[in-house]
Amino acid sequence: MSDPARQRVSLGTRSYDILVGDGLLAAAGQHIAPVLRAPRVIIVTDANVAALHLAALERSLADAHVDYDAVVLPPGEQTKDFAHLEKLIARLLDMKVERGTTLVALGGGVIGDLTGFAAAVVLRGIDFVQVPTTLLAQVDSSVGGKTGINTTHGKNLVGSFHQPRLVLADTGVLSSLPRRQLLAGYAEVVKYGAIDRPEFFTWLEGHGMALIDGDTRARQHAVIESCAAKAEIVAADERETGRRALLNLGHTFGHALEAETGYTDELLHGEAVAIGMVMAFDLSARLNLCPPEDAARLRRHLAAVGLTTSLQQMQGRIWNPRTLVAHMARDKKVSGGRTTFVLARGIGQAFLSDAVDPVDVEALFTDSLAA
Ligand code: GLY
Repeated sequence: MSDPARQRVSLGTRSYDILVGDGLLAAAGQHIAPVLRAPRVIIVTDANVAALHLAALERSLADAHVDYDAVVLPPGEQTKDFAHLEKLIARLLDMKVERGTTLVALGGGVIGDLTGFAAAVVLRGIDFVQVPTTLLAQVDSSVGGKTGINTTHGKNLVGSFHQPRLVLADTGVLSSLPRRQLLAGYAEVVKYGAIDRPEFFTWLEGHGMALIDGDTRARQHAVIESCAAKAEIVAADERETGRRALLNLGHTFGHALEAETGYTDELLHGEAVAIGMVMAFDLSARLNLCPPEDAARLRRHLAAVGLTTSLQQMQGRIWNPRTLVAHMARDKKVSGGRTTFVLARGIGQAFLSDAVDPVDVEALFTDSLAA
């Protein structure tokens, strides 16, 4: 393959590169070897990803003279809990993990978040590398160092900021993703355009469908552009004391929908974010902050690629506006009793607001269910 695209995440001594390329997995070993403290890695993956991609990663590590072991976990969101973290750490200790050993997270967001958190705490912290295999993980969760697990109180409530040493995104592996997963990841791609990259949003309007349908160059461009957008925000505000919260566009509404559907396959995270972004723009328009045409433009594009854009489209589910607002009040972005919303003045002009009246949010839910 040709040289991968390289995007730096600038965080002083914790800076690292994101490499993006088609077919990168076959050359992973040669890119991983230079960032290792010792030539030994432990790959953490799930059974579905292992069947598709583990052998290629292992081969490339062997070619680069890196020793490896692998831990294969069950697939699914339920793996991201205390019980599996404990089991994973026990396996790592059984395998005689050392301070110089590097973990390699091969998989989607669940594997990346869990492995990153294990790396943050085992032996008081060891290095890890992200090899994301879903679109959502390539453009969002593998970059920026958020790691963690879910608890019975909610998603991602226990974790740590622990930056990877390298992110290696092989856009070729996206062809093995089910279309529904790809579309859900695409919502996070659109998010970057909607936050502060209006030209990228326009590009997506022209190329998004081709990207979904398998255009490799379009996929690469979208992953590179998304990683550049995320790298810039993370470099400016690693610990989310301000600007990084813009990355939560659509998530406050989305998390309420996910809480209501029990974080099940009924509504994937990216699908909830797509509906949530439309609601955030609709709310902005209702509050006269954003031209209604921009809210309509966002909805139109998400719908054009095949994403659900309203609660009403979800067959067989009865929503209660008051319950949804109550879920929002439990969001982890609540501070001093106020929920921080990401609103917009237009496509590419997102901003944070803690001045939203819950009455307006409930009215939005009620009206959109009645429409
Ligand atoms: N996924 C949002 C963030 O990394 O901040």
